[in-house]
Amino acid sequence: MATPEISQVLLTEEQIRARVRDLAEEIDRDYAGCDLLVVSVLKGAFYFLADLTRAMRIQVAIDFMAISSYRGGKGPSGAVRLIKDLDEDLTGRHVLLVEDIIDTGLTASYLLRTLQARDPADLAICTLLDKTARRIAHTLPIRYRGFEVPDLFLVGYGLDYRQFHRNLPYIGVIRDDFLRREPASS
Ligand code: PRP
Repeated sequence: MATPEISQVLLTEEQIRARVRDLAEEIDRDYAGCDLLVVSVLKGAFYFLADLTRAMRIQVAIDFMAISSYRGGKGPSGAVRLIKDLDEDLTGRHVLLVEDIIDTGLTASYLLRTLQARDPADLAICTLLDKTARRIAHTLPIRYRGFEVPDLFLVGYGLDYRQFHRNLPYIGVIRDDFLRREPASS
């Protein structure tokens, strides 16, 4: 492991690859014959989204949103600012929101409210990582979950620390003493 800030590899490249393949098979089965639109939020989910959809065999449309937290963090009820909206119309379509991680659940909760208002036929979540320890929004429709993870600062496979480490092929844990020395600004 060439990255001194990482104390532990939580999920190896092989574990991630195998689980992503399983999830893609499940999605293929469940959405066969449906008009499926996969929606993702920049930036963290981009590797997961790419690998997941590439492993799928059914026809799928893909679209992106970009959001930004309000200054000082997410707003009340996880409110975030939409800085790039979807291009696709959601009316009557099966929509799957793909996330890299659900932590408090506030981001997903806010996004779901926004997407639900556009009359999709069906709306569900596929998340690679589910960190339940800090969950605030408890009623999310998480239909697919890759791994339940402990309450640790995770990086890699899209997840960042101050925008770095997203490109690690595995998911690792940032060392506690490193976080204490370099407190994150956000
Ligand atoms: C991460 C992740 C989710 C959100 C989950 O995004 O991609 O969207 O946090 O956290 P929550 O459940 O507590 O709301 P982040 O805001 O770190 O931005 P990024 O995707 O650009 O890394």
